[in-house]
Amino acid sequence: MLIIAHRGASATAPENTLQAFTLAFALQSDGIEFDTYQHDEAIVVFHDKTLGRTTNGSGLLLQTPLAQLKQLDAGDGETIPTLEDVLATLPVGALCNIEVKHLHNAESWVRDVKRAVEEANIEPDTLLISSFNHHWLAAISGLWPEVATGALTATYALDATHCARQLKAKSINIALDIVNQDFVNEAKLAGLDVYVYTVDEPEDMLQLKQWGVTGIFTNVPDIAKGVLA
Ligand code: G3P
Ligand code: MG
Repeated sequence: MLIIAHRGASATAPENTLQAFTLAFALQSDGIEFDTYQHDEAIVVFHDKTLGRTTNGSGLLLQTPLAQLKQLDAGDGETIPTLEDVLATLPVGALCNIEVKHLHNAESWVRDVKRAVEEANIEPDTLLISSFNHHWLAAISGLWPEVATGALTATYALDATHCARQLKAKSINIALDIVNQDFVNEAKLAGLDVYVYTVDEPEDMLQLKQWGVTGIFTNVPDIAKGVLA
């Protein structure tokens, strides 16, 4: 089962910062997950709409100029990274899950992400683009059919894999609270990979491994590494 560091190794380092991603790889995570906003000036790596929880700033991320965002302390003196900054931390072959929290123009998003991926020499098959907004995923897939997508869900729908099949997604990424053995079986029968968020407890890690889950998003990749060894 793959260990994906959720917002980087975010139990130890400030979430969605270069420190958290570098630490994730030092702890031998198989990959990283991070959250992104399509800001007017860059694709910015950040979880919340607002700046207050994780930085010394305030107000809305999307209404703050990039130069000003770059002045903020995102914890431990870290700055808010852009997509390019994060891609530069990736070792060869590491899985890179870009979660889309905000998209306003799919054409420019695809153009910018493709360019960043090429410039960082990232193998396209190590990418997974995910979102809770399946319309955005459909728009991205329409413009970039080769890229793998992951349908995020916090729901165990009656037709559990319908959204992922409709999107031709590679995976379904489901909340720990609702995943169970039946769901995993159904998704795997449909040919989907199954990732589960956010898994920080050893008992859950072992249970999910037994169910045959593809990978977990965890804030504690060091613990996961030890438990799953
Ligand atoms: O991608 C899995 C997980 O990150 C989704 O929820 O809120 O932590 O971005 P959230
Ligand atoms: Mg996320």
